[in-house]
Amino acid sequence: MLTYIAKQFRKPTGFCGKIISKMMTKGNVPAYDIVIPELHIKPKDRILEIGYGLGIGIDRISSDYDCFVSGIDFSEIMFRGASKRNKDHIRNKKAELCYGDFLTFNMVECQYDIVFCLNVIYFWDSLDEPFSKIKALLKEGGTFCIYMLPREDLAKAKFTTDEVFNKYTIDQVSDQLKLSGFKDISYQLNRGYIIKCRK
Ligand SMILES: C[S@@+](CC[C@H](N)C(=O)[O-])C[C@H]1O[C@@H](n2cnc3c(N)ncnc32)[C@H](O)[C@@H]1O
Repeated sequence: MLTYIAKQFRKPTGFCGKIISKMMTKGNVPAYDIVIPELHIKPKDRILEIGYGLGIGIDRISSDYDCFVSGIDFSEIMFRGASKRNKDHIRNKKAELCYGDFLTFNMVECQYDIVFCLNVIYFWDSLDEPFSKIKALLKEGGTFCIYMLPREDLAKAKFTTDEVFNKYTIDQVSDQLKLSGFKDISYQLNRGYIIKCRK
């Protein structure tokens, strides 16, 4: 049962996925409030959010900044919910939402000023491949920002079973960012870790 719930956090599906995705979104709004100002978005920036969930971040950024924001998520429930929430931004060509697996989705390289993800890297069994892909998608000097909960906090929750959740330490993540060739790696702890680096 706990692993079933954990899988719903990774990729919400069906009726249960709808309920969990709404609870998760409500719980994660404060994290978006903390992370978005840290992205230091400039006019005309092109931004990518990986694992946009119900599209709270895409909505906030499109409403508050003069930029273009794309997102990719592999849950159909999330894609539908986020598309509904962001329909005006999509119509006004301020946002686009893709439905697919970031790890296998074909994307044009060197096109983003900022790539970010909140509560997603737990579901990547290795960080090497996704970090290299993100680096390739960024323009030179572009920013990558990760938000993740500390390993100890994840371990306290019963549903974050090891079969589904990779509970990375901050050192594991920063070491892999370094190995993947990112520079200016920094982090702060504010509810969760906000880790920033540049290509
Ligand atoms: C725990 S939820 C977090 C949602 C949102 N970022 C938040 O913090 O509220 C993880 C999200 O990432 C998506 N996701 C996980 N792995 C993915 C992948 N490989 N490609 C695309 N989306 C992914 C899931 O479908 C889900 O919407």
